Amino acid sequence: MVGLDRSLAASGGRRYRARHRYWGNCADARGVAAALILGASAVQIGTGFLRSPEAMVHPAFADRLAHTEANETMVTRAFTGRPGRCVATAYARASASPKVPPPAPYPVQRGLTRAMREDAQKAGDADRMQLCAGQAARFARTELAGTIAQELWEDASRLLL
Ligand SMILES: Cc1cc2nc3c(=O)[nH]c(=O)nc-3n(C[C@H](O)[C@H](O)[C@H](O)COP(=O)(O)O)c2cc1C
Repeated sequence: MVGLDRSLAASGGRRYRARHRYWGNCADARGVAAALILGASAVQIGTGFLRSPEAMVHPAFADRLAHTEANETMVTRAFTGRPGRCVATAYARASASPKVPPPAPYPVQRGLTRAMREDAQKAGDADRMQLCAGQAARFARTELAGTIAQELWEDASRLLL
């Protein structure tokens, strides 16, 4: 799992007196168990729920998440002018080329990309959508959010026995 070490391993595995929440790039039971072993008292998961029905993302977005490896995400300002981690789509990658002008500041860039993003939603073209996602995207599951949370906890608990 990418990134787990950055906030917790620095502690050398010390027990925390204060509550310590791990977040970011964690979406499977092994990641949850690892964060708890390293001293977290809670684990926050975002992208891991994006394919659940409750998230209501475009089906093309949901499909793309299932095939996105950690190194296929990138931080970009190309959609809104503010940095955000997204799937490295054709548009996001092209925007990072030194041959193209840098994005405009927020919210101007957001306005500049609105027509592209709206058209992509209608056309189901994931390469022009803004696919916000962390590096554990491919672990996102399609069950109900409650089922995902329950099973993550049960599977992580078994690993901690
Ligand atoms: C719906 C959604 C919206 C996001 N919006 C932003 C954002 O505005 N700015 C940003 O830096 N990252 C944004 N991210 C990426 C998160 O900062 C982060 O990289 C990622 O969600 C890590 O946590 P996770 O693996 O639990 O999802 C967003 C992610 C999601 C799923």
